[in-house]
Amino acid sequence: MNENHEASLQVDRNGKLKHLITLEGLSRPVIESLLERAERYGQEPLTIRFDPSQSVALLFCEASTRTRMSFSLAAWRLGYPVVNLEPDRSSLAKSETLEDTVSTLEAMGVRYLVLRHSQPGIFKTLIDSPGRTIHCISAGEAHRSHPTQGLLDLLTIRQHFPDLARLSVAIVGDLAHSRVARSTFTALRTFGVSDIRLSAPPELAPHPGDFQGAPNHTLDEALLDVQVVIALRVQIERLTDAPAINPAHYYSQYGLTSERLRRCHPDVRIMHPGPIHPGMELAPELINSRRSLIREQVRNGLPIRMAVYEMLTS
Ligand code: CP
Repeated sequence: MNENHEASLQVDRNGKLKHLITLEGLSRPVIESLLERAERYGQEPLTIRFDPSQSVALLFCEASTRTRMSFSLAAWRLGYPVVNLEPDRSSLAKSETLEDTVSTLEAMGVRYLVLRHSQPGIFKTLIDSPGRTIHCISAGEAHRSHPTQGLLDLLTIRQHFPDLARLSVAIVGDLAHSRVARSTFTALRTFGVSDIRLSAPPELAPHPGDFQGAPNHTLDEALLDVQVVIALRVQIERLTDAPAINPAHYYSQYGLTSERLRRCHPDVRIMHPGPIHPGMELAPELINSRRSLIREQVRNGLPIRMAVYEMLTS
């Protein structure tokens, strides 16, 4: 799949963002504008709004708490009506195609479709369709991309480390299956972070060519003096192509512990996209420690998703 082609489909002929399916190919000014809008929304008091012309349909074909709730709450905060389409109680369960489902929503005047799906390339099929009026927003596409997670990670990191060009970041864990790692890596690179160290156990290492060819480091190399560590969730549900992972063994080899963090910069911050397997990817006591930005990541999800809705129609 050519991601540059997909990236070009999400903007119109004037370069305006019409859909959000990947951060690949998205320019720094566009992302900057999203972050600035999100910063404004994050500081603004709750405001009563009502805009029935901007209805949102949520269609999550994979499980979610953070992304689904924050897309829903973000829409409510903007005054947009929200409808939930449950895949197994919709006509998708009666063999209706996703394309027909989207056309049906369009016929009802739905303005945004927020979709999470396990099929790589599904968004390209949806947006590469003449006359498409609905704005498609990826809430996670297979192992490939999770653009709003990449944006909220970038926002959270920048709030703590404004000088991104001098920042060092380690992304550790299940790089083979993590859509979060791909989108966050892309966002950080677009903003000039050159010291991004990847580290995965051999059975969860990225495929050659992924992550712009960035090398796989040992965990010790990745952590040395690093300022931000992003621990990835082991995507147990996607491990059909890898040997079963033993949680205790993984923790002993790759779990972030207070002892391992001693290798890092003294002011290191830790992140995790969630949901966490405590005692596997992270020591339980680190999750809410002073080093943790995990709750801030979740909090930033809401203004980021408000900014995305707004930008697609402004
Ligand atoms: N980070 C993330 O995508 O979490 P959810 O699966 O809970 O949405």
